[in-house]
Amino acid sequence: MTVTAQKIQTYKELLETARAALQRSYAPYSHYRVGAALLTKDGKVFPACNIEICTWDGSICAERASFASAIAQGHRDFEAIAVVCEKTVGTWPCGVCRQFMAEFGIDLVVVVPAKDGSIATLSPDRVVASLLSAFCTSG
Ligand code: THU
Repeated sequence: MTVTAQKIQTYKELLETARAALQRSYAPYSHYRVGAALLTKDGKVFPACNIEICTWDGSICAERASFASAIAQGHRDFEAIAVVCEKTVGTWPCGVCRQFMAEFGIDLVVVVPAKDGSIATLSPDRVVASLLSAFCTSG
């Protein structure tokens, strides 16, 4: 996927917003703090963090929390989502989050930090391909 220099700057700023949101994470069970920042096509940013409760199913990933915030405030057209976690350099969204993202369009760019200080992006076709392969695995 080709990302223009201007977009790289936008995505780096999005990562910084996600990093700030990580500080508000509530993760007393996993101790794995995650921040996300969701960018709409009209340039609005919705930061969020993961929030855990004592039952796993009731917890929510940072990515889905950012979607919930944006959608509740009337936004459904998304361009990119940045995801940052505290314990590893990059984390890619889990299967449930990918399916959640796909519900609102497959042209979403996922941005994570890269080891060399730059950014890594997952193009929409790869998000969908890995979503499909996850669901097509038998046995
Ligand atoms: N988590 C996220 O918020 N996003 C991810 O992409 C990976 C996992 C959260 C869920 C849970 O609160 C904790 O990280 C450990 O899995």
